[in-house]
Amino acid sequence: MSKIQTSFVCQSCGHSQAKWEGRCPGCGEWNTLVETIVDAKRKTTRKARAVRAQVPRLSEISRDGFGRIPVPMEEFSRVLGGGIIPGSVILVGGDPGIGKSTLLLQVSGLVAEADDAVLYASGEESAQQIRMRAERLGMEGANLYVLAETNLDQILRHIEQLRPRMAVIDSIQAVYLDGLTSSAGSISQVRECAAATLRLAKSIQVPVFIVGHVTKKGSIAGPRVLEHIVDTVLYLEGERFHSYRLLRGVKNRFGSTNEVGVFEMGEEGLNEISNPSQVFLAGRETDAPGSAIAVTLEGTRPILVEIQALTSRTSFGLPRRTANGVDFNRLLLLVAVLSKRVGMGLSSQDVFANVVGGLRVGEPAADLALAVAIASSYQNRPVAPDLALVGEIGLSGELRAVGQIEKRLNEAAKLGFERCLLPKGVGRKLPPKVEGIRLIPVRSVVEALDIALVK
Ligand code: TYD
Ligand code: MG
Repeated sequence: MSKIQTSFVCQSCGHSQAKWEGRCPGCGEWNTLVETIVDAKRKTTRKARAVRAQVPRLSEISRDGFGRIPVPMEEFSRVLGGGIIPGSVILVGGDPGIGKSTLLLQVSGLVAEADDAVLYASGEESAQQIRMRAERLGMEGANLYVLAETNLDQILRHIEQLRPRMAVIDSIQAVYLDGLTSSAGSISQVRECAAATLRLAKSIQVPVFIVGHVTKKGSIAGPRVLEHIVDTVLYLEGERFHSYRLLRGVKNRFGSTNEVGVFEMGEEGLNEISNPSQVFLAGRETDAPGSAIAVTLEGTRPILVEIQALTSRTSFGLPRRTANGVDFNRLLLLVAVLSKRVGMGLSSQDVFANVVGGLRVGEPAADLALAVAIASSYQNRPVAPDLALVGEIGLSGELRAVGQIEKRLNEAAKLGFERCLLPKGVGRKLPPKVEGIRLIPVRSVVEALDIALVK
């Protein structure tokens, strides 16, 4: 094998040289030189090469090659957009220990059950460890080929030979390419390994899942440097000490990125949760102050979550604010709105906010529930138990419209909520009528608190 040519390229100015240096001679930035494979042959012949093929018209391009490989795991399949596209490279990122290997081993097992070969290459665990895990997951694995290997060239060669229905490389930080001098897990290794995998996947039309650990800062040599290379990026999220896991699509060249899959980590691997609202609301105490139900959208799916808040007198110094599952700045903003527009004395109160079940809510539509939960705790008055809340809160305390209201109302009605507080100006038109739930449109937080809190 001819030796791969590499050079060190500055990530900031593009300067290229043969030797590594701490500081780029081109632009003077520190630590920007990254080892990169250069294709010497291509450089010299690019200009001379004649146009090889006609450029096709859009209408002449066939749609074939998009026959998706079905995965009999609905929550996973939906996030991918309905199955695995042959030849695509899918990055599955997440914190270490969150369950990436478990998820992909389960998926491999399911695809292999349909009488297709699947290759699972692991650079982190031995074949025996994988076997033990598979047994715990109750997998037979007759068609599942397991390769404990860290040399990516070897792994790719096996994929090429075996031509499996799909392959997994666990993880991108554990494998290395021979030609590069830098160690496994460095930016150059991670990037070149992904590029090599992508080339093979596309040329033989085998889909490959790449596992990527999110490193401490989430950026250095982590999945972030790969996001633009791969076709699809999924993140597996969850709180370490909670059993729920969310699989979220961040990028998808073959489908919507808006989908989430909900799982629970159990004794026998990840179980799908097809009715997340019900699960997240289980164990709710309806008469305790400081708890409100938000109807949020995760992707295209409405999920009801319980948002809790606790206010307690600050014992000394600055009041503390702690946000768990909600955006910290959003919490500060809502506390300020409640202080200024509603007149609550929160400046002498510590405020803690939490989303039950370890879920993370990023949507402003959950503002109203969070604000009501804080007020409820502060005034020690519970929120009416039959009430669901939707609405974004503006700086002057006004309620702002949110999208896809009908979907949210349907979900709330399905779970037995009889009333829903929502912003008055949902578009120009009247809010849709939904069987079984009474709509209470309000204009402001003040109005909402009046209705939401039990006297
Ligand atoms: P793992 O898939 O190894 O995480 P990652 O590949 O993202 O680093 O998951 C490890 C955790 O999952 C570990 O703490 C044990 C737990 N687990 C279960 O709770 N049940 C199971 O059936 C399995 C296989 C793992
Ligand atoms: Mg793992």
